[in-house]
Amino acid sequence: MEQSKLTVLDIKARKNSKKAITMLTAYDYPWALLIDRSAIDIILVGDSLGMVVLGYDDTVPVTMDEMIHHTKAVSRAVKSSLIVGDMPFGSYNVSSEKAIENATRFMKEGRADCVKLEGGRNMAKVAKAIVDAGIPVQGHIGLTPQTISALGGYKAQGKTAEAAKALIDDAQALEDAGCFSIVLEAITSPISEMITKAVSIPTIGIGAGINCDGQVLVTHDMVGLFDRFTPKFVKQYTNINETILSAIKGYKMDVEDRNFPEQKHCFSIKSDELEKV
Ligand code: KIV
Repeated sequence: MEQSKLTVLDIKARKNSKKAITMLTAYDYPWALLIDRSAIDIILVGDSLGMVVLGYDDTVPVTMDEMIHHTKAVSRAVKSSLIVGDMPFGSYNVSSEKAIENATRFMKEGRADCVKLEGGRNMAKVAKAIVDAGIPVQGHIGLTPQTISALGGYKAQGKTAEAAKALIDDAQALEDAGCFSIVLEAITSPISEMITKAVSIPTIGIGAGINCDGQVLVTHDMVGLFDRFTPKFVKQYTNINETILSAIKGYKMDVEDRNFPEQKHCFSIKSDELEKV
């Protein structure tokens, strides 16, 4: 039986469920196929694309056109996971009108199911405008990589009482704006637990401890494909860099030593036809 597509309502219904929500990033067709086949609940076409696929230093330069190009590839592969299109820096923080326009592109061109944007109370108005336009929105608070310059670097958030209270207010503002879930990134575990209890929509943590309603990782970190740096909160389940490197070296050696192609990789022609040539 064909598996049906998850919706934002399915995700919302998983608040406080025993089985945590699973989410991973994908940026292209083959990875999206594998993740969808593994029955991961949510596939995020993250703007982490900029770092782990496009080689930028950070996520700030990522454009809408780049995001749409990759979201299209992901949506061609996906049958059941919910697809989240990550709004890049500059695509939603200029005006609500521009934000609705760009969120609409994710839906119409990228065929995403919803969008994600970074920010709390400061972005609640924009989030509400997109929700009111009929597009589900996932929030993202804590360490927000697009505004890393303002945050003063990649560090854990919610380390003082004042910062922690601000994060709880941010989460509640996003819930009030109509967001269907919130990503909590690099937030101290007790504070992400408080945030999770303070809102009635699911929280999905990355570096935010065990007590969120779900977990997300950047796939390229989780499989060891991105090795420029690995954040503390990443669990590496394999190191496919090593596997791929050894395959490439094996190919190089085989070609140089004339061990590839073998007979089984070659096409033949009947001997009587060959003689006529
Ligand atoms: O772009 C991304 O991959 C993200 C995750 C870190 C949640 O926003």
